Parts: sequence; C-alpha cells; structure tokens
Amino acid sequence: MTSSDSAQTPAKAPAKDPWDLPDVSGLVVGVLGGTGPQGKGLAYRLALAGQRVIIGSRAADRARTAAAELGHGVEGADNAETARRSDVVIVAVPWEGHGKTLESLREELTGKLVVDCVNPLGFDKKGAYALKPEEGSAAEQAAALLPGSRVAAAFHHLSAVLLQDPEIAEIDTDVMVLGEERADVEIVQALAGRIAGMRGVFAGRLRNAHQVESLVANLISVNRRYKAHAGLRVTDV
Ligand SMILES: NC(=O)c1ccc[n+]([C@@H]2O[C@H](COP(=O)([O-])OP(=O)(O)OC[C@H]3O[C@@H](n4cnc5c(N)ncnc54)[C@H](OP(=O)(O)O)[C@@H]3O)[C@@H](O)[C@H]2O)c1
Repeated sequence: MTSSDSAQTPAKAPAKDPWDLPDVSGLVVGVLGGTGPQGKGLAYRLALAGQRVIIGSRAADRARTAAAELGHGVEGADNAETARRSDVVIVAVPWEGHGKTLESLREELTGKLVVDCVNPLGFDKKGAYALKPEEGSAAEQAAALLPGSRVAAAFHHLSAVLLQDPEIAEIDTDVMVLGEERADVEIVQALAGRIAGMRGVFAGRLRNAHQVESLVANLISVNRRYKAHAGLRVTDV
C-alpha cells in the first residue's frame, strides 16, 4: 500500500460500545397475561425500578385486582388496552394461548416492540421437555403472526418465585435477549438492566430462540434436583 492509498482510505468508525444502552426510563411497558406469576413478577420488578407498567388480562377486572396487589403505580387493563397504551409489550401468556392471543391483538400491537418470554414446554413423568413449534420457536411464531410489530425475545430463564418475592432485593441472573434489530435488542437489554442484579446480554437472532426457550426444561431439572430457583450467567462478557 502506498502512502497515497492510505490517504484515500476512509477512517473506520470506532466500534460501538455494546454496553452503551439507550435510556428507556420513559417507556410504558405492558404485560399480556400479566396476572400470572411471570407477568406479575416482571411487572413488580420493572415498577420497582421506576418503569410505568400496565398488566393485561383477558378480563380487565382481574388485571386491576392484580395491579392493586402489586402497587408501585402498576395499572391493570384488558390485554387489548394494555397493548394499545404500551410502547413495549411483554408476552407472558401460556404457550397454549400464545398464537390465538397474538393473532387477536395484531392491530393493537402494530408498531410496538413485542418481547416474547414464552417457553413452549411439555411435561410428563420424566419431567419437562421442549416442544418444537411449527415456526421454530414461540418468538418466531410471534414474528410470523405480527408482521407490523418488532419482535424480540427475552426473560425466559427467570424464576417467577424470586421475581415476586419482596424479600429478594436483587435478581442474580443474566437475561438472553434475541432479535433482528440492534436498536430493539438494546431497548430490551436496557429494560432488563433496570432490574437490580439483572443484565441483558445479546444472544442472537430469532432463528436461535428455540434453544433459549428450550433451556428452561434443563433449568426445571436443575431446580427439582437442587430445590433451587436457578438463573444463568454468561461469563467473560
Ligand atoms: N413462571 C415462570 O417462572 C416463567 C419464567 C419464564 C418464562 N415464563 C413463561 O411466561 C409465560 C407465563 O407464565 P406463567 O407461569 O405466569 O403462566 P400462567 O400463570 O399459566 O398464565 C399467565 C396468564 O395468562 C393468562 N392465560 C391463561 N391461559 C390463557 C390462554 N389460553 N390464552 C390467553 N391467556 C391465558 C391468564 O391471565 P388471565 O386469565 O387474567 O387472562 C394467566 O394469569 C409462559 O409462557 C411461561 O413459559 C414463565
């Protein structure tokens, strides 16, 4: 290379710091199926961190009752109103109701960042095992059903028991965050990072969501053997 070649080579932009995450404190977070342990637990932790949170239900009165139990400014509404009023919508319904719920809320979820935390699992006498959704994963089913939404996946490996326990000050775990757009993934990482003890780590595109969803079957085995509420840490990042 001559000195004139190097003079013409444009300077490479410095790599973006992967931990430089956006300020998400002003976003409204909705939780579909927010009356269940996972949804209530996430709502409680995010609200404790100062996030505005609405929990959704198929019945508005159930959501309002659950929201009143949680306190910290959490509101309750039916799933459709929750989706409409939120910037980020966490899907925390059982796998059995996943497709139907999302299909029925397609319009309300248009333009929203939808964060799927659903683990398609079966249970038999040997314990929990991963189901294989036709689309590849729950998250990919969400993306297929919601072409007008931005879909990400996260919060699969949390213990709802720990999330809901007011005696637990910090949730000692990483959260694997998957998605197609870096900006959306970083919003979800930043939300996870608002919860004391928790860290959101990018873990790939939605085509790799199946392994992340399935890993919960292994964590359930861990929990049963060791009578624990196991979390996960990704080391060296
Ligand atoms: N529990 C955990 O520790 C944990 C951890 C990580 C991820 N997850 C995932 O989070 C999701 C929710 O878990 P969960 O334990 O909170 O579940 P859940 O209690 O069984 O369900 C959550 C809520 O979803 C609504 N629901 C129930 N059946 C429904 C259906 N057929 N269609 C639409 N909505 C329905 C109910 O609310 P309304 O009756 O008020 O509508 C219920 O309170 C699951 O997909 C699970 O894989 C759970």
